[in-house]
Amino acid sequence: MKKKLVFITGAGMSAESGIRTFRDSNGLWEEYPVMKVASIQGYHEDPELVIRFYNDRRRQLLECEPNEGHRLVAALENDYDVTVVTQNVDNLHERAGSTNVIHLHGELMKATSSDNPNDPNCIVEIPSDNPGIHIGDKANDGSQLRPFIVWFGEAVPKIEPAIIEVSQADIVVIIGTSLNVYPAAGLINYANNDAKMYLIDPKPVKTSSLRDIHVIQKGASEGMKELTELLKTSNTPQ
Ligand code: OAD
Repeated sequence: MKKKLVFITGAGMSAESGIRTFRDSNGLWEEYPVMKVASIQGYHEDPELVIRFYNDRRRQLLECEPNEGHRLVAALENDYDVTVVTQNVDNLHERAGSTNVIHLHGELMKATSSDNPNDPNCIVEIPSDNPGIHIGDKANDGSQLRPFIVWFGEAVPKIEPAIIEVSQADIVVIIGTSLNVYPAAGLINYANNDAKMYLIDPKPVKTSSLRDIHVIQKGASEGMKELTELLKTSNTPQ
Protein backbone atom coordinates (compact mmCIF):
# COMPACT_ATOMS: atom_id res chain seq x y z
CA MET A 1 0.00 0.00 0.00
CA LYS A 2 1.23 3.49 -0.81
CA LYS A 3 2.24 5.78 2.06
CA LYS A 4 -0.07 8.69 2.73
CA LEU A 5 1.48 12.07 1.95
CA VAL A 6 -0.43 15.26 2.81
CA PHE A 7 0.65 18.69 1.60
CA ILE A 8 -0.54 21.84 3.37
CA THR A 9 0.02 24.72 0.98
CA GLY A 10 -0.38 28.50 1.02
CA ALA A 11 0.21 31.52 -1.16
CA GLY A 12 3.97 30.90 -1.44
CA MET A 13 3.20 27.73 -3.43
CA SER A 14 1.87 29.89 -6.27
CA ALA A 15 4.28 32.84 -5.90
CA GLU A 16 6.58 31.54 -8.65
CA SER A 17 3.55 31.39 -10.96
CA GLY A 18 3.16 35.16 -10.55
CA ILE A 19 0.42 35.23 -7.93
CA ARG A 20 1.07 37.68 -5.11
CA THR A 21 1.24 36.40 -1.54
CA PHE A 22 -0.68 38.22 1.20
CA ARG A 23 1.74 39.15 3.97
CA ASP A 24 5.17 39.44 2.31
CA SER A 25 6.39 42.96 1.47
CA ASN A 26 4.35 43.95 -1.62
CA GLY A 27 1.77 41.38 -0.49
CA LEU A 28 -1.90 41.88 -1.43
CA TRP A 29 -2.93 43.00 2.06
CA GLU A 30 -0.49 45.94 1.84
CA GLU A 31 -2.47 47.32 -1.11
CA TYR A 32 -6.02 46.31 -0.15
CA PRO A 33 -7.62 46.56 3.30
CA VAL A 34 -8.21 42.89 4.06
CA MET A 35 -11.40 43.41 6.07
CA LYS A 36 -12.94 45.45 3.23
CA VAL A 37 -12.27 42.95 0.44
CA ALA A 38 -12.01 39.58 2.19
CA SER A 39 -14.52 39.54 5.04
CA ILE A 40 -18.24 38.80 5.12
CA GLN A 41 -18.80 42.21 6.75
CA GLY A 42 -16.91 43.89 3.90
CA TYR A 43 -19.06 42.05 1.36
CA HIS A 44 -22.27 43.17 3.04
CA GLU A 45 -21.02 46.77 3.18
CA ASP A 46 -19.82 47.00 -0.43
CA PRO A 47 -20.58 43.92 -2.55
CA GLU A 48 -19.53 45.64 -5.76
CA LEU A 49 -16.02 46.39 -4.45
CA VAL A 50 -15.56 42.81 -3.24
CA ILE A 51 -16.91 41.26 -6.45
CA ARG A 52 -14.59 43.52 -8.49
CA PHE A 53 -11.59 42.58 -6.31
CA TYR A 54 -12.16 38.86 -7.01
CA ASN A 55 -12.94 39.48 -10.69
CA ASP A 56 -9.48 41.07 -10.93
CA ARG A 57 -7.86 38.13 -9.10
CA ARG A 58 -9.63 35.70 -11.44
CA ARG A 59 -8.49 37.51 -14.59
CA GLN A 60 -4.91 37.46 -13.27
CA LEU A 61 -5.14 33.75 -12.49
CA LEU A 62 -6.15 33.03 -16.08
CA GLU A 63 -2.79 34.44 -17.19
CA CYS A 64 -0.80 32.24 -14.78
CA GLU A 65 0.55 28.72 -15.20
CA PRO A 66 1.43 26.08 -12.59
CA ASN A 67 5.10 26.15 -11.59
CA GLU A 68 7.62 23.33 -11.17
CA GLY A 69 6.65 23.05 -7.50
CA HIS A 70 3.01 22.32 -8.36
CA ARG A 71 4.15 19.76 -10.96
CA LEU A 72 6.46 17.97 -8.51
CA VAL A 73 3.64 17.78 -5.94
CA ALA A 74 1.42 16.16 -8.59
CA ALA A 75 4.20 13.79 -9.74
CA LEU A 76 4.45 12.27 -6.25
CA GLU A 77 1.04 10.65 -6.89
CA ASN A 78 3.01 7.96 -8.78
CA ASP A 79 4.54 6.74 -5.53
CA TYR A 80 2.31 8.07 -2.75
CA ASP A 81 -1.33 8.44 -1.83
CA VAL A 82 -1.28 12.26 -2.03
CA THR A 83 -3.77 14.77 -0.68
CA VAL A 84 -3.24 18.51 -1.10
CA VAL A 85 -4.88 20.70 1.52
CA THR A 86 -4.54 24.23 0.21
CA GLN A 87 -5.45 27.68 1.47
CA ASN A 88 -5.09 28.90 -2.11
CA VAL A 89 -8.15 29.76 -4.14
CA ASP A 90 -6.33 29.31 -7.46
CA ASN A 91 -6.60 26.06 -9.45
CA LEU A 92 -2.89 25.62 -10.15
CA HIS A 93 -2.55 22.35 -8.21
CA GLU A 94 -5.32 20.82 -10.31
CA ARG A 95 -3.90 22.23 -13.55
CA ALA A 96 -0.53 20.66 -12.65
CA GLY A 97 -2.22 17.26 -12.32
CA SER A 98 -3.06 16.87 -8.62
CA THR A 99 -6.25 14.83 -8.36
CA ASN A 100 -7.10 15.14 -4.67
CA VAL A 101 -7.21 18.79 -3.59
CA ILE A 102 -9.09 20.22 -0.60
CA HIS A 103 -9.59 23.99 -0.90
CA LEU A 104 -9.99 25.34 2.63
CA HIS A 105 -10.67 28.93 1.52
CA GLY A 106 -12.81 28.30 -1.56
CA GLU A 107 -12.15 28.42 -5.29
CA LEU A 108 -11.72 31.49 -7.46
CA MET A 109 -13.13 29.79 -10.56
CA LYS A 110 -16.43 29.05 -8.80
CA ALA A 111 -19.37 31.24 -7.78
CA THR A 112 -22.15 30.64 -5.30
CA SER A 113 -25.20 32.04 -3.53
CA SER A 114 -24.96 35.02 -1.18
CA ASP A 115 -27.62 33.42 1.03
CA ASN A 116 -26.40 29.79 1.06
CA PRO A 117 -22.73 29.84 0.06
CA ASN A 118 -22.10 26.19 0.94
CA ASP A 119 -25.20 24.74 -0.72
CA PRO A 120 -23.81 22.40 -3.42
CA ASN A 121 -26.83 23.19 -5.62
CA CYS A 122 -25.76 26.82 -5.76
CA ILE A 123 -22.03 26.35 -6.48
CA VAL A 124 -21.22 26.80 -10.18
CA GLU A 125 -18.05 26.87 -12.30
CA ILE A 126 -17.15 30.26 -13.78
CA PRO A 127 -16.26 29.92 -17.47
CA SER A 128 -12.76 31.15 -18.28
CA ASP A 129 -14.03 32.90 -21.44
CA ASN A 130 -16.50 34.95 -19.35
CA PRO A 131 -14.86 35.23 -15.94
CA GLY A 132 -16.66 38.21 -14.41
CA ILE A 133 -19.41 38.16 -11.77
CA HIS A 134 -21.72 41.18 -11.98
CA ILE A 135 -24.19 42.83 -9.63
CA GLY A 136 -27.56 41.40 -10.66
CA ASP A 137 -26.21 37.91 -11.59
CA LYS A 138 -28.36 35.38 -9.74
CA ALA A 139 -27.48 32.10 -8.02
CA ASN A 140 -29.83 29.07 -8.25
CA ASP A 141 -31.70 30.21 -5.13
CA GLY A 142 -32.34 33.67 -6.60
CA SER A 143 -29.83 35.51 -4.40
CA GLN A 144 -26.93 37.61 -5.73
CA LEU A 145 -24.15 35.43 -7.15
CA ARG A 146 -20.91 35.87 -5.18
CA PRO A 147 -17.38 34.49 -5.34
CA PHE A 148 -17.02 31.00 -3.81
CA ILE A 149 -14.45 32.22 -1.30
CA VAL A 150 -14.36 31.60 2.44
CA TRP A 151 -14.06 35.08 3.87
CA PHE A 152 -12.92 36.18 7.31
CA GLY A 153 -15.94 35.87 9.59
CA GLU A 154 -17.23 32.72 7.84
CA ALA A 155 -17.09 29.05 8.78
CA VAL A 156 -14.47 26.82 7.13
CA PRO A 157 -16.47 23.65 6.35
CA LYS A 158 -13.57 21.85 4.64
CA ILE A 159 -11.49 21.90 7.82
CA GLU A 160 -13.11 18.63 9.00
CA PRO A 161 -12.04 16.49 6.01
CA ALA A 162 -8.64 18.24 6.11
CA ILE A 163 -8.11 17.26 9.77
CA ILE A 164 -8.91 13.63 8.93
CA GLU A 165 -6.39 13.64 6.07
CA VAL A 166 -3.62 15.18 8.20
CA SER A 167 -4.26 12.85 11.13
CA GLN A 168 -3.89 9.82 8.84
CA ALA A 169 -0.74 11.01 7.06
CA ASP A 170 2.61 9.21 7.17
CA ILE A 171 4.29 12.37 5.84
CA VAL A 172 3.13 16.00 6.13
CA VAL A 173 4.70 18.71 3.98
CA ILE A 174 3.96 22.41 4.58
CA ILE A 175 4.74 24.76 1.68
CA GLY A 176 4.55 28.56 1.40
CA THR A 177 2.28 29.55 4.25
CA SER A 178 3.04 32.00 7.05
CA LEU A 179 0.70 29.93 9.28
CA ASN A 180 -1.04 33.09 10.46
CA VAL A 181 -4.61 32.16 9.63
CA TYR A 182 -6.63 29.68 11.67
CA PRO A 183 -8.05 27.09 11.54
CA ALA A 184 -5.66 26.19 8.67
CA ALA A 185 -2.57 26.99 10.75
CA GLY A 186 -3.67 24.56 13.46
CA LEU A 187 -3.83 21.60 11.07
CA ILE A 188 -0.22 20.59 11.72
CA ASN A 189 -1.13 19.80 15.31
CA TYR A 190 -3.33 16.93 14.11
CA ALA A 191 -0.40 15.05 12.60
CA ASN A 192 0.25 11.62 14.03
CA ASN A 193 3.26 11.39 16.39
CA ASP A 194 5.01 9.05 13.95
CA ALA A 195 4.43 11.23 10.89
CA LYS A 196 7.51 12.82 9.30
CA MET A 197 7.11 16.58 8.81
CA TYR A 198 8.78 18.88 6.31
CA LEU A 199 8.41 22.62 5.75
CA ILE A 200 9.43 24.43 2.56
CA ASP A 201 9.63 28.25 2.67
CA PRO A 202 12.38 30.72 1.73
CA LYS A 203 11.82 32.56 5.03
CA PRO A 204 11.74 31.22 8.59
CA VAL A 205 8.16 30.31 9.60
CA LYS A 206 6.99 30.22 13.21
CA THR A 207 4.94 27.08 13.79
CA SER A 208 2.76 26.34 16.79
CA SER A 209 4.11 22.78 16.76
CA LEU A 210 6.77 21.52 19.13
CA ARG A 211 7.46 18.69 16.69
CA ASP A 212 10.68 18.01 14.90
CA ILE A 213 10.15 19.56 11.46
CA HIS A 214 12.69 19.17 8.66
CA VAL A 215 12.96 22.70 7.23
CA ILE A 216 13.97 23.23 3.60
CA GLN A 217 14.59 26.98 3.40
CA LYS A 218 13.96 27.41 -0.31
CA GLY A 219 11.23 28.52 -2.71
CA ALA A 220 8.52 26.05 -3.72
CA SER A 221 10.16 24.72 -6.92
CA GLU A 222 13.69 24.31 -5.55
CA GLY A 223 12.30 23.06 -2.26
CA MET A 224 10.13 20.45 -3.98
CA LYS A 225 13.15 19.22 -5.98
CA GLU A 226 15.06 18.75 -2.70
CA LEU A 227 12.07 17.08 -1.03
CA THR A 228 11.58 14.67 -3.95
CA GLU A 229 15.23 13.60 -3.65
CA LEU A 230 14.99 13.32 0.14
CA LEU A 231 11.93 11.09 -0.12
CA LYS A 232 13.72 8.85 -2.61
CA THR A 233 16.72 8.37 -0.31
CA SER A 234 15.03 8.55 3.09
CA ASN A 235 14.53 5.39 5.06
CA THR A 236 10.76 5.91 4.80
CA PRO A 237 9.94 2.92 2.60
CA GLN A 238 7.34 3.68 -0.07
P1 OAD B 1 0.98 34.55 3.43
O1 OAD B 1 1.13 35.66 2.45
O2 OAD B 1 0.60 34.87 4.82
O3 OAD B 1 2.35 33.73 3.50
C1 OAD B 1 3.05 33.37 2.35
C2 OAD B 1 4.25 32.51 2.71
O4 OAD B 1 4.84 32.11 1.48
C3 OAD B 1 5.32 33.23 3.53
O5 OAD B 1 5.76 32.38 4.60
C4 OAD B 1 6.44 33.44 2.51
O6 OAD B 1 7.75 33.43 3.09
C5 OAD B 1 6.24 32.24 1.60
N1 OAD B 1 6.80 32.38 0.24
C6 OAD B 1 7.06 33.50 -0.48
N2 OAD B 1 7.58 33.18 -1.68
C7 OAD B 1 7.65 31.84 -1.73
C8 OAD B 1 8.11 30.89 -2.70
N3 OAD B 1 8.60 31.27 -3.88
N4 OAD B 1 8.04 29.57 -2.41
C9 OAD B 1 7.56 29.15 -1.20
N5 OAD B 1 7.12 30.00 -0.24
C10 OAD B 1 7.17 31.31 -0.50
O7 OAD B 1 -0.02 33.50 2.75
P2 OAD B 1 -0.87 32.31 3.42
O8 OAD B 1 -0.20 31.75 4.61
O9 OAD B 1 -1.25 31.39 2.33
O10 OAD B 1 -7.13 33.86 3.13
O11 OAD B 1 -2.17 33.10 3.87
C11 OAD B 1 -3.24 32.40 4.45
C12 OAD B 1 -4.54 33.07 4.14
O12 OAD B 1 -4.48 34.46 4.47
C13 OAD B 1 -4.91 33.10 2.67
O13 OAD B 1 -5.52 31.90 2.24
C14 OAD B 1 -5.87 34.24 2.56
C15 OAD B 1 -5.12 35.23 3.42
O14 OAD B 1 -5.88 36.22 4.04
C16 OAD B 1 -8.25 34.51 2.78
O15 OAD B 1 -8.27 35.43 1.99
C17 OAD B 1 -9.50 34.00 3.44
